[in-house]
Formats: sequence, C-alpha cells, structure tokens
Amino acid sequence: MTSTDLSHFTENQSKDEKKEASEEDKLGEEFKELILSLPKEKGWITPYVYLFQGFWFPSHIIQPVITFQNHFQAKDSDVVVATLPKSGTTWLKALTFAIVNRHNFPSLENHPLLAYNPHHLVPFFELSVYGEAYDKTPDLSNMNEPRLFGTHIPFTSLAKSIKDSKCKIIYICRNPFDNLVSHWVFLNKTKPESFPTITLDEAFERFCKGTIGFGPFGSHVLGYWKESIARPDKVLFLKYEDLKEDVNFHVKRVAEFLGCPFTQDEVSSGVVENIVKLCSFEKMKELEVNKSGAVGKNVENKHFFRKGEVGDWVNYIPPSMVKKLSKIIEENLSGSGLSFKDNFPMVI
Ligand code: A3P
Repeated sequence: MTSTDLSHFTENQSKDEKKEASEEDKLGEEFKELILSLPKEKGWITPYVYLFQGFWFPSHIIQPVITFQNHFQAKDSDVVVATLPKSGTTWLKALTFAIVNRHNFPSLENHPLLAYNPHHLVPFFELSVYGEAYDKTPDLSNMNEPRLFGTHIPFTSLAKSIKDSKCKIIYICRNPFDNLVSHWVFLNKTKPESFPTITLDEAFERFCKGTIGFGPFGSHVLGYWKESIARPDKVLFLKYEDLKEDVNFHVKRVAEFLGCPFTQDEVSSGVVENIVKLCSFEKMKELEVNKSGAVGKNVENKHFFRKGEVGDWVNYIPPSMVKKLSKIIEENLSGSGLSFKDNFPMVI
C-alpha cells in the first residue's frame, strides 16, 4: 500500500480507525505497510489487534517483536519468563529474580524486590527492551548475568537465538476463566480514558475468539506446552494453580531447572521460605513501590495485584459462558495431555 493509499485509508475510516492511524504514524513506513496488510479485529485497549505470525498483537507491539526477532542474541545463561498476560507473570518474575540472585542479595532487609516492581527488574522484550528500539538492539551490556527477561510473545515467534541457545524458558499459565476475569478487570482499570468500558460479554466474546493480546489462549499455552514436552531441559511449564497449592515445592523446582538448586543448608536455614514470603501476594501488594509506582507511562503497579486467588471467576462468569469456553478450551487442548479441568470448580 502506498502513502497515498494510507491517507485515503485514514480519511474514510471511523473514529477508532483514526486513533489507530495516529498510532501507526509513530511507526516506520515499512511497518505501516505491513500492519495495514494484516487481518484485524477490535482490540481491548487499542482500537485493533492484528493477526501476526498466527497471534493477535496490538500494532505498537509488532515492530518491537520484529526487531527482537531480528536482533536479539541470547546467551546460554539467559532466563526468559514467558506468559500470557494475567497468568502470574509478576509473581514468577519476582520468584525467578529472588532465586537466581539469592547469593547477591542474601538480606531481605534491603532486597531489590522491596524497592522495585518485578517488571522493572525483569524487563519485557516487547515492551521495555525493544519497546523503544525500533530497528536495532538496545545496549544490554550493563545487564547483570544471568540476564532475566520477560515476554508474552508466543513460542513460535521467539527470536531464533533463544531457541538455539541453551538459555532457559519458564512458562506459567493459568486456568482460562481466572485468566479472562483478571484480564477483563485489569484492562478496564488501565485502558486509556478515551476508550469505553469493556463489558464482560465483550471480553468473553473476544477471549473465545482468541483476539486477546498475544492470544489465542489455547495456541499460546500449547506452543510452550509442546516445547516443554519435547525439550524439558529447555522449557519448564508451570501452572498458577499449582504454585498457589505448594509454592515452596515449585521454588525448588525452578531452582533445579535453572541449574542452581538449593543446598540442604539453604533449605534448613529457611532460604526457600524467605523467598516465598518476599514474593507473596500479601507482601508485594503492600510494598510502597507497588502501591504508588508505575510501569511505563500508563500502568500503575497496583493494578498487578488484585486478589491473587484461584477460582475467583465463579463470582463473574455465568454457567452459559462456562459451558461455551470450556468446550473451546477442551477442543483446543484435546490430545495434548494438558488440562485445566482440576481448576474448574463447576461441572463442565
Ligand atoms: P487476579 O487479577 O486474579 O488477582 P500478571 O502478573 O500476569 O499480570 O497476572 C496478574 C495476576 O496475578 C492477578 O490476578 C494478580 O493479583 C496475581 N498476582 C500478582 N502478584 C501475585 C503474587 N505475588 N502471588 C500470587 N498472585 C499474584
């Protein structure tokens, strides 16, 4: 599409499309063309999400993803925390940071997690690291090793060097009902004021269609699930609900997976428990930085800490929705060996 086509496009579209076009104006010319060529659907906090490499992305994420794919050079010691949004990213980032840095920060009195939100300590590729670097790799030479990164990018779209190197990926997912409710509440709290409130019906329909940022849910989860089966030393696959049930066990599991298991001395002197307490929902939610700080321009840290419960969805989702979404998820996951059934308190 030429730039003339583009101005024609903007002149004739609705208000939403004009908003999106002004977003597109911030992008490089070649990306405008790409984005305008992609299938699109209504977005949650952006006018549209675009189908790129089989997943739905807001337009401003696509350029950082491409730059990341073209330029990121993984090191064998890197650790990537991967998730769909609202699956326990903040918690897993905190735990991973505390586990790998436990020798650097043995004291819990002045631990970085008391002063910084986990998203600050473990930056997202697509939002922070490449968020502003439109066509090149930012300088990552100041990062301490092992470098910790976060991402919502689906497995298939990760930079090749991540797949080819020995770096480790820890993925956490969450039952789709809690994920949907957490998403819905979060996006309504963090959306630009100019955007209308998203009703549960709208959120539900889009979740079912898969048009959530980085969705569809089933494809995202399955991408990492399959890789964790094929390469268990590469991808550790976790569920939010399992961590809630026995976080101590999973903290030890993560440490082993990362090649830094806790010694018997550490276990008996309470190092695991201390990490668990430091990263607990109750502790993190009450920290000043998480009550008053913000990640990036728009998102206040406090919105990352809502209820932190398993099964809160029963307070929102009516039986008709349960039936429909359960069927979709069952079909998506069929034959994969992955299931969330244990986390559906209602009969499906
Ligand atoms: P709820 O909205 O159900 O409360 P993400 O970090 O991927 O954005 O996910 C956010 C969800 O994880 C929110 O769920 C939030 O409350 C919960 N959460 C955040 N920190 C947590 C922690 N330390 N322990 C358990 N859950 C946590």
